[in-house]
Amino acid sequence: MSRLVIISNRVTIPEKSATAPAGGLAVALQAALEERGGIWMGWSGKSSGAKEPAELHLIERGNITYALTDLTKTDVEEYYHGFANRVLWPICHYRLDLAEYARKEMAGYFRVNRFFAHRLAPLLKPDDIIWVHDYHLIPLAAELRRMGIKNRIGFFLHIPWPPADVLFAMPVHEEIMRGLTHYDLVGFQTVHDLSNFRGCLEREGFGSAVSDTVFSANGAEFRGNFYSIGIETAAFAEFARKSASGVLVKKARQSLEGRDLIIGVDRLDYSKGITQRIDAYESFITRNPEQHGKVTYLQITPKSRSEVPEYEQMQRTVAEQAGRVNGALGAVDWVPIRYINKSIGRPILAGLYRLAKIGLVTPLRDGMNLVAKEFVAAQDPEDPGVLVLSRFAGAAQELKGALLVNPYDIEGTGHAIARGLTMGREERIQRWRGMMDHLLEHDVTRWCDDFLKDLTAA
Ligand code: UDP
Ligand code: G6P
Repeated sequence: MSRLVIISNRVTIPEKSATAPAGGLAVALQAALEERGGIWMGWSGKSSGAKEPAELHLIERGNITYALTDLTKTDVEEYYHGFANRVLWPICHYRLDLAEYARKEMAGYFRVNRFFAHRLAPLLKPDDIIWVHDYHLIPLAAELRRMGIKNRIGFFLHIPWPPADVLFAMPVHEEIMRGLTHYDLVGFQTVHDLSNFRGCLEREGFGSAVSDTVFSANGAEFRGNFYSIGIETAAFAEFARKSASGVLVKKARQSLEGRDLIIGVDRLDYSKGITQRIDAYESFITRNPEQHGKVTYLQITPKSRSEVPEYEQMQRTVAEQAGRVNGALGAVDWVPIRYINKSIGRPILAGLYRLAKIGLVTPLRDGMNLVAKEFVAAQDPEDPGVLVLSRFAGAAQELKGALLVNPYDIEGTGHAIARGLTMGREERIQRWRGMMDHLLEHDVTRWCDDFLKDLTAA
């Protein structure tokens, strides 16, 4: 079996996972590398004041080499905070209004991708399979090809891909589109993302579709398909079962004093629909006075990308909003919303999901949303909670047993909360069983295998 070489902006080294930032990407990839051996290259998360970034820092763990690079302060500013998080992220999440273009940052993005290619090339063996992850590194294949690298190179996008009308508002959309045509296989989360990509490719003649999954560009063919990322379903369910009797989760249960728990877990990101969700919860409480004092909504929201102004602003907005709702609706013996700005370890999260009657996952747009899948996996088969899920999360294409909502419809989401809380046990079990079976069959190992099988065959 060929070695696997993974390149992603963030790299998680197993021993350090306790302090790793919350993110679906890291969680998914570890297992694939352990199976095949190889390299995981990416940014160390550190920046230096030096003009040129330092040499790669190599860490050996069994059959895996972690190759980390620091970046200069300017690189981090332009490539990560700038173009990746202030242009690509909002554009791919359909938020033209939040995209902030700066030519300097766009140049920085391409420069850092070139730098990654130059650092990676000497580590490669001819039959290595290269798998590039996410929006930070779209131009990497083009840079590697320019250096004469002939290996198979695949790309997987963890976030949504927007329609042409949205993408083409981005000044460098042409370079980004052309960048994708240099891969042997381009993977998206859902069939809609794939179809948006096809539309972008054909609209301005960057390439054309030969079939549903074969495209042609630059005089050659490449493949594209959708691979919905999963979780480690069975292991997560087991975490949840064990964690439910752990000290912390027991304390959480006691603190509820018999109230029903509604849980939301998201990085503090405008794509997650947190403010609309709090509005929906407020609407639910206001319209269902009998629920006063009977429910607790726990929103776990680790801070994310705080250096980016739109995120910094959001920290204030959400904190104020949660405070306002608690002030308006709370009582001397009841706090309607518990709002936490810390990252919680996944084993504890698993126990909290299991404790909850409702999992509220209402992004305005999300590539997949692993929290939705984790919530389902964590439930007690005899008495499962209800997932209230945004139809704009990639996960909604698979989790048909959820109560699907439009997160912009505040009252509608409020109704779904009420419906979930009063749903009979039989219906809850039936809905949950279907979703759980799907997640057991389509777990992260299968996702990985499917992608790598197609990349090998491409
Ligand atoms: N997560 C975590 N601790 C937290 C919040 C989130 O470990 O306090 C994890 C969560 O369990 C999930 C991931 O972070 O595995 C979030 O992935 P998702 O796809 O839902 O969203 P993303 O953050 O990647 O946009
Ligand atoms: C999403 C992206 C990942 C990213 C994660 C956390 O899941 O798809 O690529 O790592 O968010 O964001 P951060 O900017 O902290 O890496």
